[in-house]
Amino acid sequence: MHHYWQGKPTRQAHKGIPEGLYEEEQGHLGFYGPVSHLIRKKPSTRWVDIEGDLKPRLYDLVELKPVTHMQRMFFNNDTEVGMWWVQDTPEAAIRNADGDVVLFCHKGKGSVLTEYGELSYTPGEYVVIPKCVAYLIVPNESTQFLYIENKNSHYIEPDRGIAGRHAVYDMQTLGRPDLEKLHSTLSEKNIEVKKIRIQHLGEHTTYKYAECAFADVVGWKGDLFPYTLHMDNMMPLMSHRAHLPPSAHTTFVAKNFVICTFLPRPLEEDDDALKVPFYHQNIDYDEILFYHDGDFFSRDNLHAGMLSFHPAGFPHGPHPKAIEKSKSKTHTDEYAVMIDTRFPLHRDEMLSGVEVQDYWKSWMK
Ligand SMILES: [Fe+2]
Repeated sequence: MHHYWQGKPTRQAHKGIPEGLYEEEQGHLGFYGPVSHLIRKKPSTRWVDIEGDLKPRLYDLVELKPVTHMQRMFFNNDTEVGMWWVQDTPEAAIRNADGDVVLFCHKGKGSVLTEYGELSYTPGEYVVIPKCVAYLIVPNESTQFLYIENKNSHYIEPDRGIAGRHAVYDMQTLGRPDLEKLHSTLSEKNIEVKKIRIQHLGEHTTYKYAECAFADVVGWKGDLFPYTLHMDNMMPLMSHRAHLPPSAHTTFVAKNFVICTFLPRPLEEDDDALKVPFYHQNIDYDEILFYHDGDFFSRDNLHAGMLSFHPAGFPHGPHPKAIEKSKSKTHTDEYAVMIDTRFPLHRDEMLSGVEVQDYWKSWMK
């Protein structure tokens, strides 16, 4: 379809929006497909009532009661997103035969033991465990992970395009498994991995061994191994002239979903640049945003440990107060993880216990 316009549009997206008017982006395929920008007199979040199930939702996960199993929250055919609390070293290592998993450390510190070596994690760390790589969490402090399972593909790096191969994060900053450290931890902490719990089709089977299943690896080589990536080692892209779409913050790519990371950054400098996320209909994607740390000024009454869910189907954007606040701010101070899925997500019933009921009203003035 060729470009077409009617009335009085703007020329450059997210910039030069006339005073008192609002821009709304309606786009296919995340932020890569056919897209139009509507300039409106009123923000597109001016609903006065919502009847039915499709609405923006906010959950206070701080209120969740920790359980020992992985607590699923959202799922579809491509992914499963949930919370996992690890207080003590589990009795068995895990081997996930259903897919790769990303563990994002929200709280706690510790190590991940694998046959490839030991990895360490602190808050703000992504731990990427490829499908079928057995791993054992050894927490030094009580740990809370957001987990994102990838059921239909393997996680790959984002396409960095014209920003070059070292943009966003340099592969040299990834944490690689340390085999020597693994052997010393196994002996110092007297750990013997004699059970491996295999997840297949969501069911579990435990394999038992007479001796430690991790201790006999004397070496390995290859380009398949678990690794870590810390938020502190990420270099977010930004433009001082125009607001970049969330896709500029893509961290991991999977088939039919992406994981993005929002980090502190300076706000746009041009007087006519939009300094908050634009109103948008991300027509093909459901959006989950997990608030890890910092000050989330683009939404009211948020704290770390909350999670918002914006399913496809309605336009959304900054809260009214955020637009005002952005005028005096020079930078953002938020750390958040976003999961955008190409196909709709189902919610687990347990989430309703921690839902902030009036979230959908929070755009009303
Ligand atoms: Fe969105």
